[in-house]
Amino acid sequence: NFILFSLRSLSYVKMLALQIYNLHRSPYFWDSPNEFEPERFTVPKKDENIEGWAGFDPDRSPGAMYPNEIIADFAFLPFGGGPRKCVGDQFALLESTVALALLLQKFDVELRGSPDEVEMVTGATIHTKNGLWCRLRKRT
Ligand code: HEM
Repeated sequence: NFILFSLRSLSYVKMLALQIYNLHRSPYFWDSPNEFEPERFTVPKKDENIEGWAGFDPDRSPGAMYPNEIIADFAFLPFGGGPRKCVGDQFALLESTVALALLLQKFDVELRGSPDEVEMVTGATIHTKNGLWCRLRKRT
């Protein structure tokens, strides 16, 4: 609401920084926002209490490779949105799927330590503090 208010009323705004991490974990838009629940992206969601938000609707972009900003009405935008949206979104998804499939065909992967020990560092991008140490076992 603050962002919508700012955009409407402050015509002199030259740069607007959006906290995408917070947007993607906002309890206003998402139920259990910190849980890994990819199936949430198959279900339409409408919240009448959020003024100006058209809700989450997979039917808005049939055949989309991922829950994009059109489906989420800009509440979920991993590759940005609008005229300067990432041009490599579909390539990135295909490439990472192929890379993961090739790896998992050959190895079983097990996290070393507990997930709670994997700390996060934010900067231009978000990454792990000390890497994501895993044990690989060659599959027989
Ligand atoms: C998981 C991988 C990737 C993520 C998360 C990602 C994310 C993003 C984001 C958030 C933006 C800014 C969009 C905006 O301003 O609204 C962007 C821009 C861009 N991305 Fe990606 N990207 C990825 C992979 C790639 C790949 C593989 C390519 C090229 C093959 C690519 C090429 C570009 C280019 C050229 C822009 C600038 C577009 C413009 O300013 O007109 N990206 N990306």
